[in-house]
Amino acid sequence: MIRKKRTRLPTGQARSAAQSLAFAPFAFWAAIAMRDQGLLDALERAGAEGLSEQALGEASGLSTYAVSVLTDFALDIGLIERNGERLALAALGSVLLNDELTRVNMDFTRDFAYHGMARLPEALAEERPAGLAHFGPWATLYEGLSELKDPAASSWFRFDQFFSERAFEALVPRIFERHPTHVVDVGANTGNLASRVLRHDREVQVTLVDLPDVLALAQQRLSDEGLADRIRLHPAQLLDPALELPAGADAMVMSQLLACFSEPEIVSILKRAVSAMGPETRLYIIELFPDVQIHDAARYSLNAISLYFTAMATGNSRFYRRDQLLPLLDQAGLKLESEHEQIGQGHSLLVCRRQD
Ligand SMILES: C[S@@+](CC[C@H](N)C(=O)[O-])C[C@H]1O[C@@H](n2cnc3c(N)ncnc32)[C@H](O)[C@@H]1O
Repeated sequence: MIRKKRTRLPTGQARSAAQSLAFAPFAFWAAIAMRDQGLLDALERAGAEGLSEQALGEASGLSTYAVSVLTDFALDIGLIERNGERLALAALGSVLLNDELTRVNMDFTRDFAYHGMARLPEALAEERPAGLAHFGPWATLYEGLSELKDPAASSWFRFDQFFSERAFEALVPRIFERHPTHVVDVGANTGNLASRVLRHDREVQVTLVDLPDVLALAQQRLSDEGLADRIRLHPAQLLDPALELPAGADAMVMSQLLACFSEPEIVSILKRAVSAMGPETRLYIIELFPDVQIHDAARYSLNAISLYFTAMATGNSRFYRRDQLLPLLDQAGLKLESEHEQIGQGHSLLVCRRQD
């Protein structure tokens, strides 16, 4: 008989962290309840003095039982603190309540990612977004974007756009340093960047490239803003290697786009960009590299979000590390002209031209 070798389990911190992991979804939903059912808000208003469980019940409309079972665990998570008979808001609870980035990330998880992440093991094994089936029968999330229903739709778009909006503030002035008259935005989504570019310069034309249904959302939005007379739409399935990108641009932008594709797909898309570029065209790539983040929390978030790309977006894409993405530019025939770190919300901007 083969005897199993006895291993000595580490104790203390590791075991404690292991329990946090084992019950991570419990902690998540308890935090959501504390936030969305008004307990954190009531505690913030009460200040350092705090509230009794009974007063918290009156403020939130929950029974004494519900308050006690929820707040006992909220104390363990560190959302709140106990001062004798009273409960008060802790720093973590305050961040959950007031920090916009945290709110956007939690809403994305609550309304969208949570419903598919349980199928991560299957997605990893089969390299397909198995968790997406909760929302629809699409091969990739992007094919279903325009059909997503609320609250999943609004939380997803808010999450996607929260990050890029900050990067666009830095990107737009940089693009206009070269006085472009025609900008092509590949992966234009609902037209956020196009709107900024068109409002920045009254002469510039923008071509938006995206899936047809997504472009319809962009067209509606830009019409509502009175900007549609300077746009062209280029409906495109970028996964089709025969699909050409629009030529004649002074500036081409790919913001948070390449993370939606596998490495071979990225090379294929970038090669088609090179074919559409003239010698003076600049390609502005915006990506989030987990390995160049200053804050541990940013790296943690990006590596977590990469697993959503696996389980729910495409099954084969991710936030690439810088050392994974840069060689792909070279393979596609691009020369990196300049690189700017930490624009927007931890984004990198890569300014590229053709290798001539
Ligand atoms: C992560 S979003 C980024 C949107 C925008 N550029 C930004 O920075 O906020 C990626 C965009 O690429 C588009 N996209 C993804 N896969 C695509 C495909 N296979 N063909 C065309 N567009 C695609 C999506 O529809 C979406 O609008």
